[in-house]
Amino acid sequence: MSVKIAVLKETRPNERRVAMVPAVADKLAKLGAEIHMQSGAGDAVKLPDSAFKNVTFAANPQGLVSDADIVLAVQPPTAEVVGAMKEGAILLSFVYAHKEAELTKQLRDRKITCFAMELVPRITRAQAMDALSSQAALAGYYAALLGATNIARILPMMTTAVGSIRPAKTLVMGLGVAGLQALATARRLGSQVEGYDVRPETKEQAESLGAKFVETGVDARGQGGYARELTQEEKDKVSSVVTKHIQQADIVITTAAIPGRPSPKLISKAQVDGMKAGSVIVDLAAEGGGNCEYTKPGETIQVGQVTIVAPLNVPSLLGEHASELYAKNQLNLLELMIKDKALALDWEDEVIAKACLTHAGEIRNEAAKKAVEG
Ligand code: NAI
Repeated sequence: MSVKIAVLKETRPNERRVAMVPAVADKLAKLGAEIHMQSGAGDAVKLPDSAFKNVTFAANPQGLVSDADIVLAVQPPTAEVVGAMKEGAILLSFVYAHKEAELTKQLRDRKITCFAMELVPRITRAQAMDALSSQAALAGYYAALLGATNIARILPMMTTAVGSIRPAKTLVMGLGVAGLQALATARRLGSQVEGYDVRPETKEQAESLGAKFVETGVDARGQGGYARELTQEEKDKVSSVVTKHIQQADIVITTAAIPGRPSPKLISKAQVDGMKAGSVIVDLAAEGGGNCEYTKPGETIQVGQVTIVAPLNVPSLLGEHASELYAKNQLNLLELMIKDKALALDWEDEVIAKACLTHAGEIRNEAAKKAVEG
């Protein structure tokens, strides 16, 4: 018997992505999977049902998942859909259990084996399965474009008959996957670029992209390659160095995040008040409350002569490529799970074990278990 995979149409507001693209459906069919999709699942990214070969379509999501071995989605599914899944079935989607306590309990109680995309370990072998990275790279690219289109200046140096235009200055704060992509994109557009992070290893990464690194002398390396929260003394030290750089920039892009915590505030109101007229802040951390004290998540606001852009779900704005990369990330994970046309979960595999949120009636991830069960 082949493995039956069901792909949901996303229902959350402003979610355009879809967890399946035609090329991935073809590959899964070759692995021996039978693919069923909700009608219109790809419409928002210009993938009509007719673009998919080897796929059967159905309108009703509950009916679709009721006999599926594996359910694929981008955002966590609704309670109705989880309620219709068969016991022991597999779910692959983003979940963020600390924000989805009720759903996580339901996944646990319905004995769903859920692999949460945000839990895929950040190890070299899992890079091709890492949707956090693929989506963050797109968001970083788009942040540079948002910066460029929200200033009334150009980014490159330009020599004209009436004189030369100096290149714009872009500062990127937070040099993870999104930040490095933002730096690279702003540089390609001709801007001078500077980067800043609290993980010292990012200096070399920024410099290899042609950026200057803003040295603050603060080292806040945390666990697993992530940053930790700064002490007040460290914050003051950082602020004394970065204020000048923020206030000389035309574009400031912020991407700083600390796992499971609200976004750290990197730009104070006073720092914004001293920024150049016409400059822009693109706050990619809006989902976690934002990196700037003035940020209004999901809105573009004007504070004096400064524009603050704080979009939510940026990867969805690039839904075609975001879906393509996401579907490939999921395909690479599924290749670990489907052997000889049948499901075979190897719990000794670090990727399988660490990406698992719920299995056999238990929450398997310690941090999620603490957040959901107390
Ligand atoms: P993230 O989205 O968690 O955070 C973005 C950036 O903000 C990070 O570089 C972080 O150091 C920085 N940050 C946090 N607080 C800050 C503050 N107060 N001031 C300035 N910057 C601050 O990061 P992302 O992109 O998810 O990457 C996290 C880690 O995972 C990195 O070490 C990255 O190299 C690593 N990684 C490893 C992969 C692999 O080996 N397969 C794949 C992707 C990421």
